[in-house]
Amino acid sequence: MCGIVGYIGDEQCYQILIKGLHRLEYRGYDSAGVALIDSNNNINLYKSHGKVAALEKFCESKDVTGTIGIAHTRWATHGEPNDVNAHPHMSQDSNIAIVHNGTIENYKVLKQALIEHGCEFRSETDTEVLVQLIEYIKNSNKCSLLSAVREALNEVIGAYAIAVIDKNTPNTIIAARKSSPLVIGIGENATYLASDATPIIDYTNKVVYLNDDEIAIIKKDEPLSVIKSNNEPSNIDIQTLKLSVSQLEKGGYPHFMLKEIFEQPNTLRDCIRGRVVNDQIQLSGVMDNKERFMNAKRIIIVACGTSWHAGLIGKRLLIDYARIPVEVEYASEFRYSNPVINPDDIVIAISQSGETADTLAAIQIAKEKGAFVYGVCNVVGSSIARATDSGTYIHVGPEIGVASTKAFTGQVTVLTMLAIAIGQLRGTVDDQTVAKIAQSIRQMPELITEALKLNKEIERLSYTFTYAHNFLYLGRGYNFPSALEGALKLKEISYIHAEGYPAAEMKHGPIALIDHELPTVFIAPSDELHEKIISNIQQVKARGGAVIAVITKGDQEIANLANFILEIPEVPECLSPILVSIPLQLLAYHIAVKKGCNVDMPRNLAKSVTVE
Ligand code: AGP
Ligand code: GLU
Repeated sequence: MCGIVGYIGDEQCYQILIKGLHRLEYRGYDSAGVALIDSNNNINLYKSHGKVAALEKFCESKDVTGTIGIAHTRWATHGEPNDVNAHPHMSQDSNIAIVHNGTIENYKVLKQALIEHGCEFRSETDTEVLVQLIEYIKNSNKCSLLSAVREALNEVIGAYAIAVIDKNTPNTIIAARKSSPLVIGIGENATYLASDATPIIDYTNKVVYLNDDEIAIIKKDEPLSVIKSNNEPSNIDIQTLKLSVSQLEKGGYPHFMLKEIFEQPNTLRDCIRGRVVNDQIQLSGVMDNKERFMNAKRIIIVACGTSWHAGLIGKRLLIDYARIPVEVEYASEFRYSNPVINPDDIVIAISQSGETADTLAAIQIAKEKGAFVYGVCNVVGSSIARATDSGTYIHVGPEIGVASTKAFTGQVTVLTMLAIAIGQLRGTVDDQTVAKIAQSIRQMPELITEALKLNKEIERLSYTFTYAHNFLYLGRGYNFPSALEGALKLKEISYIHAEGYPAAEMKHGPIALIDHELPTVFIAPSDELHEKIISNIQQVKARGGAVIAVITKGDQEIANLANFILEIPEVPECLSPILVSIPLQLLAYHIAVKKGCNVDMPRNLAKSVTVE
């Protein structure tokens, strides 16, 4: 979690840092701070709880001059979000300042040892321990800032991306990473630093992604140098960003989430471009690893949150079209489950951000046990994209809203293509089926455009449901995961409790909840289990529950039963999760907006969860 920005160059950098923090605010937003080295080589430190705007207000009458600075927007892990615990943190004699993303797991032991050496602590954070340790080593060993940082990091257990400045070496920023992302932007007479590329893209498209256990030495007017934690030099691989600034703005929409919902016809086009060719599916990640996919005995999908829901749909797709046994695991559970993994297993890791700590750890375990790991990521160059053996990007562009929308439909689309591509290789799917699905995938952007027309109707409908304290989402087969995802969307942005369930499982417990105050959303497109789900709707109606049903256009039977219907175009069953997610996203969005919630930055959440 959290966003780090840094700048060193010729320009006054306060505004650059603040703009960067705004771009990164989706990663964490409970407090923010900035440290600037002024022309007298003093470090001016300003911090405030709340969002970046609160920090800006706080800084209004302050001296914010300086051409070197580091800044942070926090998602607290150690110590409540207040002014003192906000970053940057200073060493005891206020010479060194640090910003940190991640957690220092052995901070208690280190803190105790430092206290015994006379250190006094101001905050409750694990981060302050690291900056005190750096200063302690620097003073005791009479060494450079770089050596002190390197030695301190060798004593630390945990995850970090850090940027450190020292008023005694005012023309340098030392940055390092392990398990938390850090990108360095190479500009003209300036170097930028950030948790992802979004604060950098306004100034340069030349970037270096720092690898785990690397330390960057960023000096004014000198080329970047990078070393490994064992002091050996590292190669610097300068990459060119394909991101554009317009992708990072709201483009006239009131929220990023709504913009991203409406982008889906285009993001789906980008996702399938070059991959659906002449009624065939072509995925280079599958073609390049033919043997692996042909000989695979089992697939294990690991992911978290919305990506895990996409994984559940992927399971059905892979079973139906590639005929391989599939397991889907929460990455956070998988990593501690002593899993049995064989070398002919394939592990598929799904992650929008490509930075989720639990998913990264699951990949590590799978690799140690010899599995082939395939990534389904959005962020190009992200840690998961680099840690996997091969993969398919979903290519839906930057997703800023904390609630995942276009990434979910991109993930399900890629998993559909993946299942078909593997099925083609293994001969488990016939040409006619491939052609039919390929054609339907090509039509998806138009069908999504059609489904988006429900927006106004859903906005009206949402008024009726802002009163609700609980919601039930029910679906079957391919759309049981859609029910889970619909419920997650609602709870994370509107704070209304919502539960997703397989529709037929309802009668084994949740049916007890149903009364006139509990609305139930049925995801009931016309598919194999249509008749069955109609019975489930009747069971809810018979107990006085209100029913909102997402149905295939023209389904009169359910239309007669439900209190509200949301009609989507007809689509093959395996692609229905993509289409039903549109009204579910819009319903969550409008209810949350009506309730006055900040849909782009819901409370307690952050976009990318880089801590355990
Ligand atoms: C989605 O709406 C959530 N905010 C969250 O569950 C998310 O999907 C999860 O944290 C996984 O993130 P990732 O896809 O970036 O790994
Ligand atoms: N562990 C640090 C803290 O609680 C950093 C958290 C973050 O990544 O924002 O302050």
